[in-house]
Amino acid sequence: MANPQRSPVRGIGDMNIRIAAIVAGLAFVGALHSITGAQEAQRTVWDGVYTEEQAKRGKEIYAQVCSKCHATDLSGVDEAPALSGGAFLANWGGLTVGDLSERVRISMPPNNKGKLSRQQIADVLSHVMNVNGFPPGKTEMDSKTEVLRQIRIESTKPKANSGS
Ligand code: HEC
Repeated sequence: MANPQRSPVRGIGDMNIRIAAIVAGLAFVGALHSITGAQEAQRTVWDGVYTEEQAKRGKEIYAQVCSKCHATDLSGVDEAPALSGGAFLANWGGLTVGDLSERVRISMPPNNKGKLSRQQIADVLSHVMNVNGFPPGKTEMDSKTEVLRQIRIESTKPKANSGS
């Protein structure tokens, strides 16, 4: 008579082991994901994410489209905030160049949204990166938001970064 009572208990025991195995498996997959995720986001604005040539093009576009509000030196005027320096980097630090490009694409210039193509926005942002002291590199900044979302904005150069 004891047996019929025992076996369900046993059954639950087996199930617990199975659940434990599944949970451990999921945790492992989760850990893998976060490792690869961290590697993807490892690229920062310190890794040469635009070219000097591109920043020059961006400077011209900036002068025509943005400077009357944000000032020629990006220091901001009245309502229009600075696009360089401590406050700007405090706003955007930890976010990505993709976030910044979307912000510009959706809302700037306020009186003529959508005026700039994605390519022109990438060029303008190259100029912005340049003025903020992030170094140019050998490859132009991509115009695709998904690609730009893999470049993190960091106000100070990450120590772990052994980049060239
Ligand atoms: C007519 C004036 C005007 C023009 C032209 C203009 N902006 Fe702005 N911009 C503003 C104002 C005002 C704000 C703050 C209010 C808001 O977000 O709309 C702002 C906010 C921003 C922000 C967010 C800054 C932050 O840290 O929150 C970015 C980035 C930006 N502008 C980039 C640009 C770029 C790049 C251009 C040129 C393509 C441009 N703006 C053209 C007025 C302007």
